[in-house]
Amino acid sequence: MAVHSLLHTFCVFTLLPLPSLRRNYKHRPADCGADRYFDSSRLACAPCGAHQRQSAGGSSCVCEPGYRMVSNNDGFSVSCEKCPEDMSGVTQDGWNCIACPKGLTPNGNCKCPNNEILVERSMDGILLNEALCIHCNGSEQSFSASDASGSRCIRCEKTFIQVSKSCDCSNPNILTGGLCFLAQEGLPEVKEIIALWLCFELILLD
Ligand SMILES: *[C@@H]1O[C@H](CO)[C@@H](O)[C@H](O)[C@H]1NC(C)=O
Repeated sequence: MAVHSLLHTFCVFTLLPLPSLRRNYKHRPADCGADRYFDSSRLACAPCGAHQRQSAGGSSCVCEPGYRMVSNNDGFSVSCEKCPEDMSGVTQDGWNCIACPKGLTPNGNCKCPNNEILVERSMDGILLNEALCIHCNGSEQSFSASDASGSRCIRCEKTFIQVSKSCDCSNPNILTGGLCFLAQEGLPEVKEIIALWLCFELILLD
């Protein structure tokens, strides 16, 4: 990882500015714009197909919101098909159309309210015609809340359970930095919270 990012830095700042190389490396993914992707085999921008736009990383194309994928050969030869009006959402994997009772995200996927998880398939993997938004049971003994991706109910953060005997950190308890504190305990110093965050980031980056 470290070696890879060193090499990357070396390439971007040392090799690419050389005129002879720059001629062949005219574009970076960000320069290609929304309708083109960065073709790494030719080191150039290439157009996305019909009803497509640049993927998040810029190195391939994805279907526009409201269109499902009908083929995708590792990001090459993607083709897309419009979803019918009564199933105007696209599943999170991009392959199917689905009805979204609680509305759509800007990317055209189904949206669920906070602390409800999005369910698109039954237990055996069969796709539902209409997505479900399931509320996570935050009381004893489940103590569950939605995970960061909003796709599973998981046991909620332990300070919430300790302090409030639920997944709800409401008055008079105090929610800060993702942790729940008893009101009379007082808040931890801002310094402590920052230090905690820094350590967390370091662990994540490692
Ligand atoms: C959560 O689960 C408990 C125990 O199974 C149940 O009694 C309670 O009604 C549920 N709460 C909600 C909000 O569904």
